[in-house]
Amino acid sequence: MSYRRPAFWIALTIIAVSAIAVFVVYLRIARIPFFLINILGVENSPVHWVGWAGSLIILATTTSYSLRKRALHKVSGRLLRFHAFGNLFGFLLVSIHFVHQVTRPASSYPVLGTGVVLYSAMLILVLTGFTTFFQVKPAWVRYYKFLHPAAAFTLLMVIIMHIIHGI
Ligand code: HEM
Ligand code: HEM
Repeated sequence: MSYRRPAFWIALTIIAVSAIAVFVVYLRIARIPFFLINILGVENSPVHWVGWAGSLIILATTTSYSLRKRALHKVSGRLLRFHAFGNLFGFLLVSIHFVHQVTRPASSYPVLGTGVVLYSAMLILVLTGFTTFFQVKPAWVRYYKFLHPAAAFTLLMVIIMHIIHGI
């Protein structure tokens, strides 16, 4: 267990900030206002672009680590740290997107479905990734390790449907 490593506390802080952001929006203390931002000729709300940014970060940090490991058979500690912290930051952005969507006013409430599955998969990824990366319970890792790539596969499959639905 790595209580003494600053990285452990930085990672925990990103998770805590994500949880606080979710509660602040859920309890209607504050939320990102609706206005349009034009990116590459497409106009959409900040909440929409935050969802894109988080998902693209997750895509980049996951494929770079996986491809290097699987294709080149090389595991780089630096790339794994990039994977862990990049994905935690992606989780923060996606949490902001998620909570704004599920608290939209009744008149424009979305049909819940793929997004809820995605966020559940992300919670499993963050929990299993964090406890593996920081060796929270080393003896247990081999029992739940399979959940991490399994949830990543679910995320990849479902996000394709979510994006098609979203655009
Ligand atoms: C892991 C990443 C993501 C999560 C967890 C997530 C979560 C959600 C949730 C919970 C909703 C409410 C509707 C539903 O349950 O499907 C939603 C709606 C939406 N999301 Fe995402 N999202 C993610 C990524 C994205 C991306 C990359 C886009 C870009 C197209 C996007 C665009 C949208 C749009 C446009 C809606 C509104 C759909 C409607 O009004 O029916 N999301 N998202
Ligand atoms: C949220 C989105 C995430 C996705 C989609 C994801 C995806 C993946 C995938 C596909 C692998 C398997 C790589 C391979 O063997 O080819 C992996 C491994 C791993 N991930 Fe994640 N991950 C995410 C988040 C995290 C987070 C937040 C952490 C840590 C804080 C983390 C830590 C790890 C660790 C320790 C491994 C095992 C490395 C190894 O055995 O080589 N992941 N991840």
